[in-house]
Amino acid sequence: MKFFVDTAEIDEIAELNDLGMVDGVTTNPSLIMKSGRDILEVTKEIAAMVSGPVSAEVVALDADTMIAEGRKLAAIADNIAVKVPLTWAGLKACNTLTNEGHMVNVTLCFSANQALLAAKAGATFISPFIGRLDDINLDGIELIEDIRTVYDNYGYETQILAASIRTVNHVLDCARIGADVMTAPPKVIKAMANHVLTDNGLAAFMSDWEKTGQKIL
Ligand code: E4P
Repeated sequence: MKFFVDTAEIDEIAELNDLGMVDGVTTNPSLIMKSGRDILEVTKEIAAMVSGPVSAEVVALDADTMIAEGRKLAAIADNIAVKVPLTWAGLKACNTLTNEGHMVNVTLCFSANQALLAAKAGATFISPFIGRLDDINLDGIELIEDIRTVYDNYGYETQILAASIRTVNHVLDCARIGADVMTAPPKVIKAMANHVLTDNGLAAFMSDWEKTGQKIL
């Protein structure tokens, strides 16, 4: 499973990238706003830091302007994936940008039918939002399962990029289903290393080691 980091914070990306945990990065207008950075500048910095796809989102609502924005974002670096919303305008932009050879990430996906349309439009990635479905008492994980089934039934190559991941359980559920990629905030990726028995076991080992009076270095 590929790990994308869902942030526009350079330091957080660098920390995980140094550990080999970053296969790509996703950003959106809200994350750009939180970073306080200029979208073109920060996207360029991120794309230079990581070798995998870096999603940068268009903000126009009509297809022609989305395509123009997408071309400008894609010109930042070879590893930019242009992010477009799952609207008819977004699907049109996806189709055009894909045909021009750009990677496209279709975002704000909340149904398997939407995911089917994105695959037919040639999307590189489809981003179903798990957490936002859970927020309204719907089942985000079930959506990932449905999309996996539909894509596998017809051999679509669009990669399922599980997004809006809020918990470590979301990550594991997506891995069990076979999502191709998951994107999560750095704190969720870091929390995957936590286990109370690891902490307790390490404390016991340290206590016993102290009693030996030995040193390795
Ligand atoms: C990633 O592509 C999405 O923009 C992001 O995962 C949304 O997450 P949120 O629902 O926690 O804002």
